[in-house]
Amino acid sequence: MRTKLVVGNWKMNCGIEETKILLESILKNYNGANLNNLLQVCVCPSFTSLSTAFKILESNTIALGAQDVSINDNGAFTGEVSIAMLKELDCQFVIVGHSERRMYFKESDELINKKVKKILENNLTPIICVGETLEQKENNQTKEVIKKQIHGVTNNLSNEDLLKIVIAYEPVWAIGTGKNATPDQAEEVHLFIRKLLTLKSTINVSESISIIYGGSVKPENSKQLVAMENIDGFLVGGASLKSNLFLEIIHSF
Ligand code: PGA
Repeated sequence: MRTKLVVGNWKMNCGIEETKILLESILKNYNGANLNNLLQVCVCPSFTSLSTAFKILESNTIALGAQDVSINDNGAFTGEVSIAMLKELDCQFVIVGHSERRMYFKESDELINKKVKKILENNLTPIICVGETLEQKENNQTKEVIKKQIHGVTNNLSNEDLLKIVIAYEPVWAIGTGKNATPDQAEEVHLFIRKLLTLKSTINVSESISIIYGGSVKPENSKQLVAMENIDGFLVGGASLKSNLFLEIIHSF
């Protein structure tokens, strides 16, 4: 059985006070004990709120994740945050290759691959985002784009490494737009990703990798999406900022 995962990507929202309010509101109604024990929940606040979230989540089963990491360990890299800094705050997950970072900060598959290796060397879990733009979708390039991204971001990973990654399929046209991929559309791409991973490793390895979906996930569509064979959870943006919506998504498992 693959681990199911619900990850809240708070993006550039929630300073310290808002982080406290949001997390306390989630925790008040979150009953991890009632959940299927294969479900892992994780929140990814901004760097400046990680320490607040770390203190609040200390003895909780909700894990902490970061939204990015540097490929460098320390030194003169203004504005960057190292993996050691994330480990001090007990971050277990790091999102890499989000389309917003690819688009606004020109991150390449090659750079994302370096980040993935840095995260794995440090025994954290990379949540690696891939996904096509609307233009690419309309030009029937979805599979071609996904194939190139998957090959690039997983370049030179061993089977042992691959067992520790999470892939997030996030069609760019569905992020923050209210237009989610239909369960069938998402399932088709998830299955395609799993086949690509099988070619890079073995069936046993690829069958163990969690592939989560992101892009306008909300309580209205989460149940149908998660019913699909190859959808192992969600990367949630907007709806993760509202405790009631995030909890409803968690409880759709
Ligand atoms: P959204 O964002 O749920 O607001 O569409 C998802 C994401 O970008 O990870």
